[in-house]
Amino acid sequence: MRKTVLGLIGTGGISQSQHLPNLMRAPHVYLKTVCDKNEELLARMREKYRVPNATAEVDDLLADPEIEGVVVATREDMQAKLTIRALAAGKHVYVEKPLAATVEECEEVVEAQRRAGKFVVVGFNRRRAPSYLRARELLNADGGAQNIYYRISDEYWRWGKGNPPGVRVIHEVCHIFDALRWIVGSEAASIYCACSRPDDEIYTMKFASGCVATILNSGYATRDFTKERLEAISRCGSVTVEEFVELRAFGYPGVAPMQRFAGHTHPDREFAHKHIFSTLGAEGLYAFRRMGWEYLHQQENGGDSGCDAEIETYMNEHAPHWNYMVDKGWLGLIDHFAQCIQENRLPEAASARDGFVASQLCHAAIKSRETGEVVRL
Ligand SMILES: NC(=O)c1ccc[n+]([C@@H]2O[C@H](COP(=O)([O-])OP(=O)(O)OC[C@H]3O[C@@H](n4cnc5c(N)ncnc54)[C@H](O)[C@@H]3O)[C@@H](O)[C@H]2O)c1
Repeated sequence: MRKTVLGLIGTGGISQSQHLPNLMRAPHVYLKTVCDKNEELLARMREKYRVPNATAEVDDLLADPEIEGVVVATREDMQAKLTIRALAAGKHVYVEKPLAATVEECEEVVEAQRRAGKFVVVGFNRRRAPSYLRARELLNADGGAQNIYYRISDEYWRWGKGNPPGVRVIHEVCHIFDALRWIVGSEAASIYCACSRPDDEIYTMKFASGCVATILNSGYATRDFTKERLEAISRCGSVTVEEFVELRAFGYPGVAPMQRFAGHTHPDREFAHKHIFSTLGAEGLYAFRRMGWEYLHQQENGGDSGCDAEIETYMNEHAPHWNYMVDKGWLGLIDHFAQCIQENRLPEAASARDGFVASQLCHAAIKSRETGEVVRL
């Protein structure tokens, strides 16, 4: 199989947990060059993943005529600028979310993409999550989604401590705004936010299609609680998805009432959860999450943890990553990007315009929280 030659800019957190291992195993990808301005990190990542070239200069990577597409995973302050530069150099671009820090910068990317005639895929990976592709298919076969409830809740109180309100919306809830637009197949007409405390809030949205949606966004959950849950009602049936692992279908003739989805793996970590999720579904996920929470709870509360050295080593070095053990579509999206370059076809993924709309929605959501008013779009 011909492989698409790609380069990666940014070898930080998301590249280590997703892009580097995925670029090495995606069937349509040949990762030729990695780039990071942090030279020590760059050398380590090049060696670990045996990437042929490494450079600290973005221009070196972009000047290589063999490189057809570039993955940009730097941070929102640089992602739009680097995307525009890569487009101008004739590359297709996969850029992490959020596309940019401001709506105006997102617009500049849309314009640059139009001029370059190359495509831009924004890393809204949920559009390639197998469980969400199936849920959307079921809903669309029954007249489309009419009413949706989505929960996203995690230990943000732990890892996002000190961030001002708004950061979580731009970094986390942006995924959900995009996923809902894609599932509903329509634009949001209005959004309203009610909030009990910072980062503990609900959003209600109305779409042009007539569909309504509620997002429960909470940064105050614990590790034993699943991070995401989707519930959607179509014409007269419904579907639920528990954290990408278990889909249940109700009222659709001939459709199995339950489908389980294997998880996602990382080469540094064990893969048993994949088999457990495909045989036990959500029960397996709850057990894994509970194990993680009990370990953490015991660690933090001192005393006799009951955790011997072996358990500690297992939890820190071998257990799957909590946020990355379910299949949210990262590998599928990167491979699809490479395949579309080869076949010269438009990706079925979030475009630069979708990145722009997600940014608009994030800013509208923040405005509604601040003013207490419905924001019309
Ligand atoms: N899709 C997802 O599930 C997901 C998950 C986590 C993070 N993200 C997104 O991925 C992006 C990156 O996040 P992260 O946690 O990996 O950040 P990070 O800070 O850990 O890594 C960014 C890397 O980019 C490098 N870099 C920055 N500017 C550069 C430049 N001009 N040239 C070369 N290298 C440069 C930095 O040195 C750093 O190593 C963010 O936008 C984040 O929101 C997406």
